Amino acid sequence: MKAAVRSRYGLPEVLNIEETERPVVGDEEILVKVFVTTVNRTDCANLTGKPYVVRIFTGLTAPLNAIPGTDFAGEVIEIGKQVSGFKPGDRVFGFDDSGLSSMAEFTSVSVKKAIRLIPDGISFEQAVASAEGAHYAINFINKVKLHKGERALVNGGTGAIGSALIQLLKYYGLKVVATGPTEHLDKLTEIGADRNINYQKEDFTKDQGKFDYVFDSVGKSTFGDCKSLLVEDGIYISSELGPYSQNPFLAISTTFSEGKKVRFPLPQNTPASLELISRLLENGHFRPLIDRSFEMEDVRHAFSYVMTGQKIGNVLLKIRDK
Ligand SMILES: NC(=O)c1ccc[n+]([C@@H]2O[C@H](COP(=O)([O-])OP(=O)(O)OC[C@H]3O[C@@H](n4cnc5c(N)ncnc54)[C@H](OP(=O)(O)O)[C@@H]3O)[C@@H](O)[C@H]2O)c1
Repeated sequence: MKAAVRSRYGLPEVLNIEETERPVVGDEEILVKVFVTTVNRTDCANLTGKPYVVRIFTGLTAPLNAIPGTDFAGEVIEIGKQVSGFKPGDRVFGFDDSGLSSMAEFTSVSVKKAIRLIPDGISFEQAVASAEGAHYAINFINKVKLHKGERALVNGGTGAIGSALIQLLKYYGLKVVATGPTEHLDKLTEIGADRNINYQKEDFTKDQGKFDYVFDSVGKSTFGDCKSLLVEDGIYISSELGPYSQNPFLAISTTFSEGKKVRFPLPQNTPASLELISRLLENGHFRPLIDRSFEMEDVRHAFSYVMTGQKIGNVLLKIRDK
């Protein structure tokens, strides 16, 4: 089978398209014919092995998985002896941030991982683009107790995490203000933001609004910068560790003090995230933001584009025709 392959950590140039052995399905696995995957920020970290902490999961000195890819949408073509709940012909999608070797024509995946049937009426492309960013966005909101009518500010609303987060917050009945670049402000309105801030023209930290939550889904601010935006018991969450890795420490120290708090989202429970997102896809409450699609042969360009930090939502990598 055709696959994107690398033997060491590095920039997109370490990737080559090669003929490799098709995986053999294990007893608790399903063999999936992959139609489409995404190139996302988690893939970029897994490709470069940076930040170094990711190597605890992906291999200390060299990548454990020669074939990258953290998500897929495709068709089940074979099931292992002990598998129930899936059958050949099923349309499925899945995600695992430590890697699923899905930048390949076939992948064999344990059914213990986060795999779901694609809801009727949802395309392979929509399904696969609803995994990575949405999972991290769900992990943001799992750190708080949302109430209808509360106000949230999402910095980086055009990103994969931000665009999913806006839709989730609207689903739970919050008022949402989101930041984005001039070119894509209309996208924020399309996905449900009540008000937009053009980050290229305005400093969102100087906004006059007061918010119950500030979610920085591109990790470009600090708790200190955002404190004046928060109500007395408001909560700040960022996708990044922050300067000097301050965010996890602030999350601990503010737990024991009165007033504004920091929470730090360590992504977990991927199956629960995909279960929720499947339900929202099914009932029309969630539609992923998709930027563009690259052919598998252009995998290096796809990674280079995502690494610019300028993609909006999700970037697809087409593996084969349906
Ligand atoms: N904790 C984790 O496990 C985890 C996992 C995945 C990702 N991440 C991190 O989460 C962050 C977001 O990932 P993502 O995939 O959602 O990002 P993304 O899709 O790459 O976000 C890019 C979008 O954000 C916009 N943007 C860039 N800088 C901005 C700023 N200062 N203010 C407002 N908007 C800005 C960009 O606009 P322009 O076109 O103007 O640049 C672009 O539309 C990244 O920092 C990533 O490293 C963390």
